Amino acid sequence: MQSLKQLGLFWKWKTGEERQWLEETLVHWFDAPCSLFSSGREALLALLRNLPIDHGSEILIQGFTCVALPNAIHAAGFTPVFSEIDPATLNIDLEALEGKIHSRTKAIIVQHTFGIVADTEALRSICDKHGLLLIEDCAHVLPDVTGPKRIGKHADFLMLSFGRDKAASGISGGAIISKDEVVTNLLRTEVQNASELPFFTIKRLLLYPLVYASTKPLYGIGIGKALLLLASKCGALVPVISQKEKTGYQSTEIHRMPSALCALVRWEFKRFHSLNNHRRTLTKIYKDAAEHHNWNVPAGVDTHLPLQKFPLLVQDADDIRKKLKRYNAHLDDGWTGASVCPRSVSQEAAGYIPGSCPKAERLATQLLTLPTHPTISIKQAHQLIGILAKII
Ligand SMILES: Cc1ncc(COP(=O)(O)O)c(C=O)c1O
Repeated sequence: MQSLKQLGLFWKWKTGEERQWLEETLVHWFDAPCSLFSSGREALLALLRNLPIDHGSEILIQGFTCVALPNAIHAAGFTPVFSEIDPATLNIDLEALEGKIHSRTKAIIVQHTFGIVADTEALRSICDKHGLLLIEDCAHVLPDVTGPKRIGKHADFLMLSFGRDKAASGISGGAIISKDEVVTNLLRTEVQNASELPFFTIKRLLLYPLVYASTKPLYGIGIGKALLLLASKCGALVPVISQKEKTGYQSTEIHRMPSALCALVRWEFKRFHSLNNHRRTLTKIYKDAAEHHNWNVPAGVDTHLPLQKFPLLVQDADDIRKKLKRYNAHLDDGWTGASVCPRSVSQEAAGYIPGSCPKAERLATQLLTLPTHPTISIKQAHQLIGILAKII
């Protein structure tokens, strides 16, 4: 296991050669300069605070999103403005978006929700028309050779995440690809001035796959989740979203991406096509099952996409999740029950005005996300479908 190997190489955790390898690989891949940070949200903060826009400017984001976005926008001194989604794609609705643009709007962040590719070409035209910057949040998808050509082509800046359930996981990590020379230089200075993550934090991050792998088999006898929670409570794991972040706070301190985590991403890139193909296979299996059982799937889901998770719409998603637990299937990944996810986040602190994106709010109550990640086998996907067929 790669994280176990990295745990043994502690003298290389911070500044080994893997960091340079990842940076060069991304520069080559996207054909533009790249800056690495210790998470996607830190990368976004570093980018936002170096944009040539005034304090207090508004940045448009979609109504169904992760709290990391509004938090980074607030931490950079701007105001997030939430715009309605298109329930067919779970991405920002272009018509509703135009209605939100006014003189204080300076940028749009577009998100490819769960890997469903947003129409960045149309967004580019909207940005050009109104003189806005376009930032593409690629946290949920990374293009591969056969992937959609639209990703990464039209934005001024790209944000990548190497978080633990992302397209290529380094457990934590993020990057900005910048096509603007001035901002690129400012980001270089950010990286130079950034701190290294403490040894203890890197150790806790590297431990995550080991703790997860050892508790997963125990889910069957009902103690796996409890043990994972206990490990979290004891501080053995770094939470995906901290309690402070749930109250709308993001620290303004920026860290470099540790070399040990870059090494994990390198390993993911080695098998990237097979990882994405596995996601495609599971996406097709779920889509075929949905057609067979007449389940409701957003129209924008197509089986060529390596989805980060598969969206299924039901009347009452919480009720289905509760029933699934009786079969020892745990589907709550945080992307449910609220417009700003996870639902334990203070919506007000995130800047979300309740009722402002009714389609996003409705979707959040109807959404079941089926797993497509590498640890889910085809057999497990079929088992999950079998259980769903009994209870939907
Ligand atoms: C759409 C989106 N953008 C940005 C982020 C932040 O990425 P990171 O977890 O690497 O900070 C997330 C995190 O899940 C996300 O879902």
